[in-house]
Amino acid sequence: MSAMAQVEKDSLVVGASAAAASAKRGLFVVLEGIDGSGKSSAAKGIFEALAREMPGRVVLTSEPTDTWLGDCVRRANKEGLSGTTEALLFVADRAEHSLRIAQWLGEGKVVICDRYFASTVAYQGAALKTSMGEKNAIEWLKMVNEPIIVPPDLTLLFTIRAEMAMERVRQRSGVSKFENLDYLRDVDLVYRSLCMDDPNYITIDASRPLAQVIQIALAAIRAKL
Ligand code: TMP
Repeated sequence: MSAMAQVEKDSLVVGASAAAASAKRGLFVVLEGIDGSGKSSAAKGIFEALAREMPGRVVLTSEPTDTWLGDCVRRANKEGLSGTTEALLFVADRAEHSLRIAQWLGEGKVVICDRYFASTVAYQGAALKTSMGEKNAIEWLKMVNEPIIVPPDLTLLFTIRAEMAMERVRQRSGVSKFENLDYLRDVDLVYRSLCMDDPNYITIDASRPLAQVIQIALAAIRAKL
């Protein structure tokens, strides 16, 4: 790659947010919530319903991504690397993902994204609070994400009591290191504080039956279309 092409690629990365803001014609919807909130099952249902209404116009995507950067995140998690390393890997994965999201939005697509930067602020904020202090951790995570994100038009926060979420997680196979009750409670608290600061958040009671949760989410999305 020539030096100029490299500079252009780098400035694209830094400018993902600005590029998206100017080129954007689609709708960017993010789904967030603790493990066991049913968010990923709802994401599929939401995608299927919208794709039937708008064939070819809806994209379902998720983080960590299915790219090699996403594999790095999963490997760091398995190998127990430090919380800061893990946070930076999530952000690196997102920096590339944001470019693809900006492109889809520029093509007029409705992008449904299962987890985005709020996941890093909530999960890594809760993980790093012991070493960095909660306020510092959250400020640092917001700062490091800020230049590489596309601001969501709507974030649907799936809320559920951590006990109920853990029960659902236990019924699935393989509990990950993020899935323990006290930790999920901390993550939930960070999510709720993010939600209070941002008018583009809508909370959905995820203890309701999945079909209802999907209908509520669809109504919120359609109101933004
Ligand atoms: P998933 O279960 O929704 O696929 O997410 C994988 C796990 O990764 C989940 O426990 C949440 C965690 N995670 C973070 O800790 N930080 C992040 O930035 C993201 C995207 C996920």
